[in-house]
Amino acid sequence: MKVGILMGGISSEREVSLNSGKSMMQHINKEKYEVVPIVIDKKEDVIENVKDIDFALLALHGKFGEDGTVQAVLKTLGIPYSGCDTLSSSLCMDKDLTKTILKANNIRTARWLNVKSIEEIDYEAIEEMKYPVFIKPTNGGSSVATFKITKREDVENAVKEGLKWDNEVMIEEFVKGDEITCPVFENELFPILAIKAKTDFYDYEQKYSANGAEHFAINLEEKLYKEVKEMALNTYKALKCSVYARIDMIITEQGVPYVLEVNTLPGMTATSLFPQSAGEKGISYTNFIDMIIEYSLKNFK
Ligand SMILES: Nc1ncnc2c1ncn2[C@@H]1O[C@H](COP(=O)(O)OP(=O)(O)O)[C@@H](O)[C@H]1O
Ligand SMILES: [Mg+2]
Repeated sequence: MKVGILMGGISSEREVSLNSGKSMMQHINKEKYEVVPIVIDKKEDVIENVKDIDFALLALHGKFGEDGTVQAVLKTLGIPYSGCDTLSSSLCMDKDLTKTILKANNIRTARWLNVKSIEEIDYEAIEEMKYPVFIKPTNGGSSVATFKITKREDVENAVKEGLKWDNEVMIEEFVKGDEITCPVFENELFPILAIKAKTDFYDYEQKYSANGAEHFAINLEEKLYKEVKEMALNTYKALKCSVYARIDMIITEQGVPYVLEVNTLPGMTATSLFPQSAGEKGISYTNFIDMIIEYSLKNFK
């Protein structure tokens, strides 16, 4: 079977994706699969360069990769691909829609506003949420243009900055607490990892620099674990995820978990969160890639 590893792409997460792709190239079982790297430099590459592969292993992140567009092209061409389908990928890319669906399913998520212009900023609603608030692109990733805003005077600039990256921007209630990530594989919760940033929050630098955030497996107290597990699995189900997705949460000092966002094509370097969690379960990165391919093929209709 000929597996193409799609990486690069045109989003703000291109560099990250190239690293994910490189790691997948290194770790994929080359005795089992014939592997070709496919670096996407422009949109058309997805159509031109995938024609002779049997499976597309997606190492893409962000817009035009994680948002369902590439999945739609592959589906149209009849090429099976890894991870969530078009609908689920698009839903999870849009944090406003993600949260709307979570809310409808009674899954706890912080209050928020979504705006398309600075005129739409509702300062009264922000006052109600209380400062600080987080302001970030609705369809963002890798913490680009993400700001913790402590006062009214800074809101407009943060929204303007976000609008440089996206057509919509979210203003979200600040959830003070500990960040965790819940990797879910085929409706099964893998070991939960804690994320400890060394700065105020998990920004770009903390995500990708060698001296960035630390992440390690944690054991939550039983009652909290049960709640987090239920929330993670319900989130996965509500957003119609398949194969794998990573659900990020913040647990407040009072022990109350909030869903922050869902990543349908999370980072895939050997030291990224999902492969690390699989490792905690005794699944090597090579086997983990195998499992992704196997279940993605099974789900592809
Ligand atoms: N409402 C919030 N409360 C507290 N921290 C937040 C909030 N929103 C974002 N953050 C911080 O910013 C980081 C990036 O935000 P996130 O919503 O995960 O977007 P991205 O898709 O860029 O990862 C989070 O990991 C967290 O550290
Ligand atoms: Mg995130």
